[in-house]
Amino acid sequence: MHTSLCDLLGIRVPILQAPMGFAASPALVAAVGNAGGLGALALGPKPLDEVRTQIAETRARTTKPFAVNLVLTRDQDERLGVVLDAGTPAVIFSWGDPAAFVARVHRAGAKMMHVVGSATEARRAADAGVDVIVAQGWEAGGHVFGSVATMALVPRVVDAVAPAPVVAAGGIADGRGVAAALALGASGAMLGTRFLASAEAAIHPRYRELLLAAGEADTVHTGLFDVGWPNAPHRVLRNGTVAAWEAAGSPAPGARPGEGGEVARSSVTGLSIVRYQSRTPSVDVEGDIDAMSLWAGQGVGLAREVRPAAEIVRELERDADAVLARLAPRKA
Ligand SMILES: Cc1cc2nc3c(=O)[nH]c(=O)nc-3n(C[C@H](O)[C@H](O)[C@H](O)COP(=O)(O)O)c2cc1C
Repeated sequence: MHTSLCDLLGIRVPILQAPMGFAASPALVAAVGNAGGLGALALGPKPLDEVRTQIAETRARTTKPFAVNLVLTRDQDERLGVVLDAGTPAVIFSWGDPAAFVARVHRAGAKMMHVVGSATEARRAADAGVDVIVAQGWEAGGHVFGSVATMALVPRVVDAVAPAPVVAAGGIADGRGVAAALALGASGAMLGTRFLASAEAAIHPRYRELLLAAGEADTVHTGLFDVGWPNAPHRVLRNGTVAAWEAAGSPAPGARPGEGGEVARSSVTGLSIVRYQSRTPSVDVEGDIDAMSLWAGQGVGLAREVRPAAEIVRELERDADAVLARLAPRKA
């Protein structure tokens, strides 16, 4: 399973843990790195002190490479400075045009990755000098930039940017999916939802329980959870909030059932979480977890038990290798 991406990023296997807001804890990122893959912190909205702390906590747990994600819907100038000063090996940008940051990232000796949802965006990023293109299909959990499914998107992106390496994301949740990503021409696979079911993901136990019980048809692609991050489509578990909104005739913001009402609260910050808020149910949340934005991809049905992240990486590697061996032409 060794690909050119492994040499570029200094990893053993081309398995990447997707950046996932609160869920991507330093413990998760380090565990994936120590198992030979690449983990990613998601630090886009964090205060600078927390950016420093999370990177330091990750470094304390691993000497292996890791990545930091910065979402470009915010000004990331200062955060990028902190990330690069800390010697972060790879930066993953999403939701915007990363061209202005290429020279700065490379000067710091880091690799630059960017998440795209179309071949056109991919070509633009590769022309700007981005090292690795992440093609995110719309099966993906969380915020989804494009509207094309992984199966159709990845080969288009691979063709558009060759020979630049492409990582496939969205709906990949087991070794068969990893092998399929490689078959489509990707040099690696990035998994989010599957790692939510790891012991290290910093999510509320009830959210994890709902994920483990969900099947492939239990997610919905919507713009509903828009408080705090408007106009950004996302994929979530279909829950009571979605059902009540649909039953009310899917009204526009301002006329939705329960709008503005508190559904939960962070026990750490004391801040209220309202209905339709874009907020991962993290461990510190108390209240009606079932009503919150329960980010999940269509691969959720393949996440059947909670396991240490290192075991998940090893399972993905072993099963993908087995599929690839089975499909390889037999020697005469
Ligand atoms: C809980 C959760 C939080 C996410 N947060 C982020 C984020 O902070 N930044 C980002 O670029 N993508 C985010 N995503 C998208 C993932 O990086 C990735 O593209 C997606 O999980 C891949 O699809 P999969 O969930 O089917 O594996 C998130 C996804 C999930 C499930």
